[in-house]
Amino acid sequence: MTTAVPTHRDIDLSDRNFWARPHEERDAAFAVLRRENPVPWSRPADSDLLPPEQNLKGFWSLTKHEDIRYASRHPEIFSSAEGITVEDFPVEIRMMSQSFIAMDAPRHTQLRGITLDAFKPRNMLRLQDWIQGHARDLISEISHLGEGDFVDLVSVKLPGRIFGSFFGLPPGELHEKTINAAQRTLGWTDPEVRGDLTAVELFVGAVMDLHETVTTLLPERRANPGDDLLSWMVQAEFDGEKMTDDELKAFFTLLAVAANDTTRHASAHAILAFSQFPDQRDLLVADVEGRVDTAVEEVLRWASPLVHMRRTAVQDVTLRGSEIKAGDKVVLWYSSANRDEDIFEDPFKFDIARNPNPHIAFGGGGPHFCLGAALARTMLRSLLTEVYTRIPDISAPEPRYQVANFINGINSLPATWTPERR
Ligand code: HEM
Repeated sequence: MTTAVPTHRDIDLSDRNFWARPHEERDAAFAVLRRENPVPWSRPADSDLLPPEQNLKGFWSLTKHEDIRYASRHPEIFSSAEGITVEDFPVEIRMMSQSFIAMDAPRHTQLRGITLDAFKPRNMLRLQDWIQGHARDLISEISHLGEGDFVDLVSVKLPGRIFGSFFGLPPGELHEKTINAAQRTLGWTDPEVRGDLTAVELFVGAVMDLHETVTTLLPERRANPGDDLLSWMVQAEFDGEKMTDDELKAFFTLLAVAANDTTRHASAHAILAFSQFPDQRDLLVADVEGRVDTAVEEVLRWASPLVHMRRTAVQDVTLRGSEIKAGDKVVLWYSSANRDEDIFEDPFKFDIARNPNPHIAFGGGGPHFCLGAALARTMLRSLLTEVYTRIPDISAPEPRYQVANFINGINSLPATWTPERR
């Protein structure tokens, strides 16, 4: 029996079930789109965030690397202000959670400006030893175990500890609650993360927890500002005005979610990829210091931890023959661009020596380029260095993936390794 090769007409990116399919099938579908119909139109995405009578807008998809870079670098055509996910959130929920990632200039530039210094690559370089220390401590805590779920043992904890220090979160219950909220916010499409909750209940519940953290910490940070990011945010002024409490809460929510969930899943994808391609693991292990930088870039390309961002056209524009009208939703599929045959030789090969590696896992450039790229790279470099020098035979080939089209999530990653001798 022969299986019919799908054409672009068979591919429905709006179907929630598409996002529950094996990654290889999804990648193959995007390869068909890139070849046959690189800027397709789709019906409204399946969504539980809005009642069906309000979920009426379809969307264009950009699947090519070049087109995503173009859209990312032309915010005057492709606005972020109407939302950044293919599924629309009710406006009030967007306002309480997305802050400047869902804004255009000039407000975007002002708010992003507060944090720029903290996240500059040279500051990250300064923090490298400190981040490496967190990674070393964490691997020391688990290296003797020989087995366990890598997500629970490491992926959840490392970004949580680093983020906590950045914001001056005191260790303890508040810290735990904050990181837990940050790491479940983006799971609104995943049955396992949602449990009995609706998508809106899950999302809003997690966001309210993050807001509560800000409410708890604000009075003290206002009275005694320290050298942490929340204290900077509280003091920052624009045209003589400070941010309101609501603005601070949304700002904190954006940073908490953007920093925690992405790096959590990226670290799990790294261990998974090296388990699936042991030849690449052996290469890394043979020269961790020499190969870790290109390995990190390949993990980012391979995993595309954020699968998409969305824009809204504010003027008519034609891309590869598709006539996008002002007001249309446009989705930038990074996961597809990172397998684009026109850019990457042998794109379906996980190759840690790939160089150059112009992946766009952190976005296609332009004003919204990931603020935390340097931090994420430093964290991944530190983690891979610790893991592959101390428990190099770690193997975890069987993930339990999240069902999601925004975050490329891994809920669970059972791992085994030879315990480290002490
Ligand atoms: C592997 C980890 C990460 C990946 C793959 C990732 C990816 C991305 C992507 C694709 C964007 C959107 C770019 C665009 O729209 O053009 C973004 C934006 C952003 N990221 Fe990350 N990110 C990661 C880690 C982090 C970390 C650690 C932080 C720390 C705070 C962070 C903070 C942000 C913020 C604040 C934005 C919004 C920037 C803006 O709108 O100006 N990210 N990230």
